[in-house]
Amino acid sequence: MRYFDHNATTRVDPEVIEVMIPFLQTHWGNPSSAYRFARPVKQALQQARAQVASLIRAQPEEILFTGCGTESINTALHLGAMVGRGQRHAIVTLVEHEANLRYAAYLESQGWEITRLGVDGQGLLDPQAVKDAIREDTAMVSVMWANNETGVLLPIHDIAMCCRDRGILFHTDAVQAIGKIPVHVDEVPVDLLSLSAHKMNAPKGVGALYIRKGTPFAPFLYGGGQEAGRRAGTQNMAGIVGLGKAAELASVRLSQKNQVGALRDHLEQGMLRSIPNLKVNGHPTLRLPNTSNVCFGGIEAEALLHQLDRLEVAASSGSACSSGSLEPSHVLTAMGLSPRQALSSIRFSLGIETCQEEVDYLLQHLPEQVRRLRGYSPLNQ
Ligand SMILES: Cc1ncc(COP(=O)(O)O)c(C=O)c1O
Repeated sequence: MRYFDHNATTRVDPEVIEVMIPFLQTHWGNPSSAYRFARPVKQALQQARAQVASLIRAQPEEILFTGCGTESINTALHLGAMVGRGQRHAIVTLVEHEANLRYAAYLESQGWEITRLGVDGQGLLDPQAVKDAIREDTAMVSVMWANNETGVLLPIHDIAMCCRDRGILFHTDAVQAIGKIPVHVDEVPVDLLSLSAHKMNAPKGVGALYIRKGTPFAPFLYGGGQEAGRRAGTQNMAGIVGLGKAAELASVRLSQKNQVGALRDHLEQGMLRSIPNLKVNGHPTLRLPNTSNVCFGGIEAEALLHQLDRLEVAASSGSACSSGSLEPSHVLTAMGLSPRQALSSIRFSLGIETCQEEVDYLLQHLPEQVRRLRGYSPLNQ
């Protein structure tokens, strides 16, 4: 399988698996237990917290482990809703992940007012739009660091500064940015930041929420006193240890030069050279180095993905299946693409393991597949 879907999930790094196994086989105690058998488990929990904190330059006690990126985002928005002093207005963007948009819609159903900011044709958000949308009753702002479909980076630093000045809680969904670009909370004054392990070569089913010291908190899950009373439920120790190791590996990789950006550019330029009527969706440079979202005019993305699957190439489109029909990506339509253009777009996302041969294989087969589909696509009739 030539895997070009690293924004969907990543393979667990062998070094991550290695550190996880003892926490399934030997050190299977409960980290909350007081006896000696549980001591290495408790120590591993502390170490993982320090490793994740170090990646984003936070303090270990500012890291809360969760069950996934979605839970981190829901926890952040829930917290914003609970600790507000009667304010019931929130600002998000139209290009957020469903984990954000659906929780915002839930708040709306509870009487909140939600402002959903749009982006321009390149997927960029004007920070002035956030400033202009802030009202007396704004309780929180939540804007993602990098978009999962296009890789476009949002102006988190400017928004964070503005929210800090106005005393408004600011959350960022950094699930896609973490491990791909430097994300440092000592430089960008966010209050809350969500991340997910399975996007950074660690296992699925574990995430973290960074909560800046001094931020008021309201739990999302009630029960035991784990995570300093902030998230009930016995911790997924193997997953957390894996996330800690992945964070450590990501810190090292980010300090070294890697080939992901060069391979993505090689893929994109190769596609632009060999396939007519092709357009890259998203800003050319203000983008994650691993993501390329392209619109293949005149074909259905699903048909091309099917052909690629037969050639053992995995990629994806941002369209969602809803009640039997295909809905165009909300991110691409927010950027002004027509539903037809959005349904003709595919995301290729590379990872640290992607190699030149895989990119060359894709470039060798893609033009022919596109030409054949264009020959008999109903979109061309
Ligand atoms: C930007 C973004 N936020 C949140 C999530 C949800 O993360 P998880 O799958 O860990 O719940 C994803 C996953 O695709 C994502 O891409």
